[in-house]
Amino acid sequence: MPAQIIHGKEIAEAIRAELKTEVVRLATKGVVPGLGVILVGADPASTSYVTAKEKTCAELGMFSDDNRLPAETSQADLLALVQRMNEDPKIHGILVQLPLPKHIDEAAVLLAIDPDKDVDGFHPVNVGKMVVGEKAYLPCTPHGVIQMLLRSGVETAGAHVVVVGRSNIVGKPVANMLIQKQTGGNATVTVCHTRTKDLAHHVRQADIIIAAAGRPNTITADMVKPGAVVIDVGVNRIEDASKKSGFRLVGDVDFDAVAQVASKITPVPGGVGPMTITMLMWNTVESAKRTLGEA
Ligand code: GUN
Repeated sequence: MPAQIIHGKEIAEAIRAELKTEVVRLATKGVVPGLGVILVGADPASTSYVTAKEKTCAELGMFSDDNRLPAETSQADLLALVQRMNEDPKIHGILVQLPLPKHIDEAAVLLAIDPDKDVDGFHPVNVGKMVVGEKAYLPCTPHGVIQMLLRSGVETAGAHVVVVGRSNIVGKPVANMLIQKQTGGNATVTVCHTRTKDLAHHVRQADIIIAAAGRPNTITADMVKPGAVVIDVGVNRIEDASKKSGFRLVGDVDFDAVAQVASKITPVPGGVGPMTITMLMWNTVESAKRTLGEA
C-alpha cells in the first residue's frame, strides 16, 4: 500500500494560525515581533528563501527589517549591521542567511549575534544549551522535522532513526534533538555521512529515515525497510526544460519508488520546507514573549 503523505504545508499552516493568535495578543501589550533579515549576495535559492521569510512575517502581522547587501560587502560592515540589530529593541530575532560569501568568516558572524536574538539557533551558546537539554532556540529545520513527526503521530521513543547527513544546520542538530530525554526524542540514532561504509546497510535498519544529504536519489526503495517513516529534508534544483524557471525541486529521496515501501513520507516541495520558515517565526514570537518575561 502506498505511504501516507505527511503534508508539511498543512502542519505549517496550523502552527502559523497558532502564531497569528499570539501575534495579535502580543500587539495588545504593545509588542510586535520583529525579524532582522540579512542576505549577502544574490544566490537564487537563498534569495527565494529570504523572500519567503519576509512574506511570512507580513502574513503573520510581524515586522521585518529586510537587508539585501551586495556580495562584496565587507565582514566589518556585516558585523556592524548585526550589532545595530542586536541593539534595536524592535528586532527580536536576527537571521543571517547562509551560506555567506567566501571572504566572510561565517563562524565569526554567527558568534556576533546576541544569543537572545539567535532565532536560527546557530550561536554556540544555543547549540550548547540544546545539546545539554537546556531551554534554547532550536534550529528551524530540525525543529520542524520533530514537529512534523509529533503532529503526524510518529512515535520517536525507542525508534531507530537513521540520519543521513552531518551538517551543522540539519544532521548534527536533528540527531541531538532526537536523543534528548523528552517528547519527540528518546530515539536510538545512527548518523551516516559521506565517509559511511555501506550506507544502504545502515538505512535498512531504520524505523525513521531523515535524509539530509543534499543529493538527489540518495535514498532508493531498496534501502527502505517496509513500513519505515521517511522525512526528506533535501531541496535540490534539477534542470527541467518543461518548467518556465528551467528547473524543478526534488529531495534526496526517490519519492515515487520509496512511497511504495514506506508507511509515511514527506514530499518535496510541500514537506519540510514550509516547516523551516514556520519554526523561524515560532522562535521570533518566542523571543518577543521573552521581552515581556512570558517565556
Ligand atoms: N541556509 C539554509 N538553511 C538555513 C537556515 O535555516 N538558516 C539560515 N540562516 N541559513 C540557511
